[in-house]
Amino acid sequence: MKPFLTAATAALILAAGLARPHAVAAETVQAAATAARERINIDKDWRFAYGHADDAEKDFRHGLRPFFFAKAGYGDGPANADFSDMAWRKVDLPHDWAVELPFDARGNTNHGSKAIGHPFPENSVGWYRKVIDIPASDKGRRIALEFDGVYRDSVVWVNGHYIGTEPSGYSGFRYDITDYLNYGGHNVIAVRADATTEEGWFYEGAGIYRHVWLTKTDALHVAQWGTFVRTTVDGAKARLDIDVTVDNDGKAPETFAIRQEVFAPDGRKVAEGETTQLTVKAVASGDFTSTVTVDQAQLWSLETPHLYRLRTTILTNGVVSDSYDTTFGIRTVVFDPDKGFFLNGKNLKLQGTNNHQDHAGVGVALPDGLQTWRLKQLKSYGVNTYRASHHPPTPELLDEADRLGMLVIDEHRMMGTTPEIRGQMERMIRRDRNHPSVIIWSLGNEEWALEWNELGTRLAVEMQADAKRLDPTRRTTVATSGSGQGVSLGADVIGFNYGAQHDVDAFHRAHPDKPAMMSEEGSTLTTRGIYFDDRAASHLNAYDRQGRPGNSLSIEEGWRRVQERPWMSGMVIWTGFDYRGETTPFGWPAISSQFGMTDTTGALKDTAWYLKSVWTQKPMVHILPHWNWAGREGQAIDVRVYSNGDTVELFQDGKSLGRQTLVKDSHLKWSVPYTPGKLTAKSYIDGKLVASNEVVTTTDPATVTLTPDTTNLKADGADISVVWVNVTDKAGRIVPVAGNRVNFETSGPIRVIGVGNGDPGSHEADRPAERHAYHALSGWRSLAINSLDGGPAVADTADTATWRDPTQWLPPEAQPPATKGLVLRGQFARPVLTPGGVITLYIDRLGEGQTVYINGVTVEPKTVDGALVVDVDPASLKDNNNLAYVFATPEGGVQGLYDRSVGATKWGTLRVTTPAAPWQRSVFNGWAQVIVQSTGQPGKATLKAVSDGLKPAVVAFTARSPS
Ligand code: GAL
Repeated sequence: MKPFLTAATAALILAAGLARPHAVAAETVQAAATAARERINIDKDWRFAYGHADDAEKDFRHGLRPFFFAKAGYGDGPANADFSDMAWRKVDLPHDWAVELPFDARGNTNHGSKAIGHPFPENSVGWYRKVIDIPASDKGRRIALEFDGVYRDSVVWVNGHYIGTEPSGYSGFRYDITDYLNYGGHNVIAVRADATTEEGWFYEGAGIYRHVWLTKTDALHVAQWGTFVRTTVDGAKARLDIDVTVDNDGKAPETFAIRQEVFAPDGRKVAEGETTQLTVKAVASGDFTSTVTVDQAQLWSLETPHLYRLRTTILTNGVVSDSYDTTFGIRTVVFDPDKGFFLNGKNLKLQGTNNHQDHAGVGVALPDGLQTWRLKQLKSYGVNTYRASHHPPTPELLDEADRLGMLVIDEHRMMGTTPEIRGQMERMIRRDRNHPSVIIWSLGNEEWALEWNELGTRLAVEMQADAKRLDPTRRTTVATSGSGQGVSLGADVIGFNYGAQHDVDAFHRAHPDKPAMMSEEGSTLTTRGIYFDDRAASHLNAYDRQGRPGNSLSIEEGWRRVQERPWMSGMVIWTGFDYRGETTPFGWPAISSQFGMTDTTGALKDTAWYLKSVWTQKPMVHILPHWNWAGREGQAIDVRVYSNGDTVELFQDGKSLGRQTLVKDSHLKWSVPYTPGKLTAKSYIDGKLVASNEVVTTTDPATVTLTPDTTNLKADGADISVVWVNVTDKAGRIVPVAGNRVNFETSGPIRVIGVGNGDPGSHEADRPAERHAYHALSGWRSLAINSLDGGPAVADTADTATWRDPTQWLPPEAQPPATKGLVLRGQFARPVLTPGGVITLYIDRLGEGQTVYINGVTVEPKTVDGALVVDVDPASLKDNNNLAYVFATPEGGVQGLYDRSVGATKWGTLRVTTPAAPWQRSVFNGWAQVIVQSTGQPGKATLKAVSDGLKPAVVAFTARSPS
C-alpha cells in the first residue's frame, strides 16, 4: 500500500486559541518514550501505612500542625517531606489494602464484609509515600504526576505542598508538579486515601490500585489524551480525521509544525502529512485537525483486531518538541432500531457480561496480565462484549480489549452535570475515545431517583450532548430499570436492565426509532460445583433458573428472548465473574456475589457452559452435575446437557438413556438414578459424532495438581501466571467434592500475590499480609555532653529531670553552647504483642558516631535503607523502657533535629509486626487458584503445593529479563 496523502487531504485545519479543557487526568495512550517525552511507571517501592479516619493522633498527627493547610508547603505528618516513613511497609503498586483485611460481621455485606468503612476508622485510611529523584537536567521540562485510579478521596502532596484532591475512586487524574520539584535531588510524594465512604454497592477495594506515572515533556506538547482519530470507512479506504490538542505551558507564543504518520498493523507507514506555521499562545492550548486517508484499510473486528498507530510529532524550528503515539482501529459500529447491532456492516448480537473489577486473591489491584487472562476467560465461552459496570475501567483493560477483540460498553460512574461529575465523564471520554473496542458510552446505571421523571430525561439529554461534543462518533446509552419515561428517553440507545421488569415490546412499539440492548439480564444465583442448596454454607445449586422471579430471567430464557427479537442488539449478563459483595440472597456470612457465569477465580459454572453451547461453534457437550453422590444412591438426579450439536445421547455406565434432539438455544434433561459409575454424553451433528463428555465417580483425593497458564515470565516484577490448583484422585480425576487445604511455597524470583477458591462462604484469607502497629516514643529529653561517651547519662537509672525538653523551641540566645556530643533519651511502654509478633525499633541517622542503648544496655543496629534498625528482644523489655542515643552535636544543636510538622518520627518509631499468615487455601469442590508474579529478578523459580496426606505438586518457572 502506498502512502496516501495529498495536499488537500493533508490540510491542517487550524483552530488555535481555544480555551483549554479543564485540567484532567492520567495518560492511557501508548506514548513512546522519546527524548522529548518520557512516560515513567513509578509503581515500585512505595511505603504504605494505615492512618486513621477519626483520630489525628493515630493518623500520624496529620492535620494538627497550625497552618497545615492554610499555608502552601505546610503539609504535616506524612504529608511533610521530612516525615520519616522508615518503619512503614514497602509495597509495589497496584495495591488494594482492603483485600488484605479480615472479614467482619460489622463490615458492609454489599462490599464483601471486609473490616473497612465507618465501623473501622483504623482500617479505612491508607497513606502512601514515595521518593523520586528528578535530575537537574529536567529543569525547564513539564513534569506531571498521573494516577490511573485511587480508591478514594485521595489527597496528594509533593515535597510538603498540597497538590490536589480527587474524590472519585475510578477517574484518572493528573497533576502538573513542575513548579514544586527539587531539581537534582529527592522529591517526596505523599498520598492519603480515605475509603471510609463508598461509591458503589459492591466491593471496591482501597488504595492506589491502578498504575502511577511520571510524564515529562517539553513546554510545548500534546495535551494529556490530546489526540483523537476519527475514522470513516469509505469502500476499501478509510478517512482519518485527526484532532490534536497542543498545550503550550511556556511563557511565549509558539509557532510549530505537526507531523502525522500512520503505521499499519504490520508496522509499515501507510500515510503521513505535515503542516507548518501553526501557532498557540503562551499558557494556552490549541486544537488542530488534519485529515489523511488510508488505502485498503484493515478493519478492526472481533476475529481480526487490527490496530493502527498514529505518531504525532510536534516540530519547532525542525526540532522535535514532542512525539506522541496513539493506538487506534478502523471499524464501523451501528446500533439499528430495527436490526440491532452491526460491526463493520455485519449484524451480530452483543454476547455480553457485566463485570466489576475485582478478582480472587488480589481484590481490585489487578496486574495487567490478569486483565488479559480475564478477557480470555470470557472469550473462552463466547463473550464478545464487556460492560464496565459501573465505572470507567482500568486503562490496560481497554488496551487488551483492543488487542484481543472484545467490545466494551464504557460506563460513567454517576449521572449529573455539575463540574465535578461532568469533568469525570469528560476524562473518561478523552481517555478512552481512541479505543476501537469501545462501542458506546454509558452515561449511568439504574439511577433510581431519575429513572421515572423529567429530571432524568433532562440529565440524560445534557450528558449526551456533552458526550457528543467530546466524541461525535459514538452513541450513548443509559442502563435503566424503568423504561418509558425519564432517563430511558434521553440517551440514543436504551439499556434495559432485566427483561422481566420491562415490557420491551411495548417500549419498542412506542419508540420505534430507539435502538435497544439488554444491558443487564440474569442475576442468577448459582455456586460453582454445587447441585443441592446448602444455605447454611451460603451455597446455591448451579442449575440455571430465575434468580429473582418476576424481575430477572434465567440465562437461557434471557438469551432466547434476545434471539427472538432481531431489533434487540444483544444481552449483557449480570455478571461474567462473581465479585465480592452483593451477597444476595444471604448477607453475612456470605462474602461474595453468586451472579457470575464463573466464580471469583474465573472457574466456569454450568451457565458458562450453556453460553458456550449457544455462543461458540467448536463442537462441545457438557454434562451437569458431577457424579459423586455418595449417600444419594438410588435417588433420581437431575442431569442436564448443553451442546452445540443437534442431538445428544446419554449413557449410564455404557447403557443408553436415549438420544434427544436439542431445541435451539436450549438444553437437554434426563432424570438418572444415582449409582457410582459414569455418565457419558455424545453429541451429533447430522448423525455424525462431534463431541463427547463424561462425568465419573472419583475415588478419594490423592494428589494436588498445579496447572499454570504460563511458566515463562518476564522478569519485570509485574508479569503473572494464573495457576489452577486441583485435588485429584489416583486416576487424575478432579474430585468435585474435595475441600483439602493446600499450602504454597515459592523459591526463586517469584512471589504469590493472591489465592482464591470461588467459595462465596469462605472466610479464608485471599491475601494474607503483615500488619504493623507503630508506637511513637515519648518523654524526650536531651543533654549536651563534651564527649561521645554517654557515661552515666545512658544508664537505665539516669535522672533526666534537669535535662532539656528538646521538642521545646528556645530562642538562639538561650541555646546552650555547642558541645562535642549529645545524649537524647526517650521512653516507651512495653507494646502489646500479638502471637508471633516482632518488635523492631527504627531510628534515623541523627548525627555522627551514633550509639544506641536500651535500658542502659548498648545495642548494635543494622542499617536498612539508610535507617538504623534494632530487632528488640521482647524478653529484654520492662513495663517502661528507656532508649538513649549518643552522637556528635549536629549543626543547630538538638533544636536543628526537631521538626514540629513531623514530630519526633525520626528519633525513633517502635514497630510491632504481626507477620502475615502463610499462603494457603482450601480447594472448593476440587478447585482453587493461586496467582504468582515475577519479583523482578531473572532466574529459575518453583511453586510448590503441599496438602496433608496428598502427593504434592511442583511447577518450575523461568523469569527472563525483558530483552
Ligand atoms: C442491578 C444493578 C447491578 C446489580 C444487580 C444485582 O439492578 O444494576 O449493579 O446490583 O442489580 O442483581
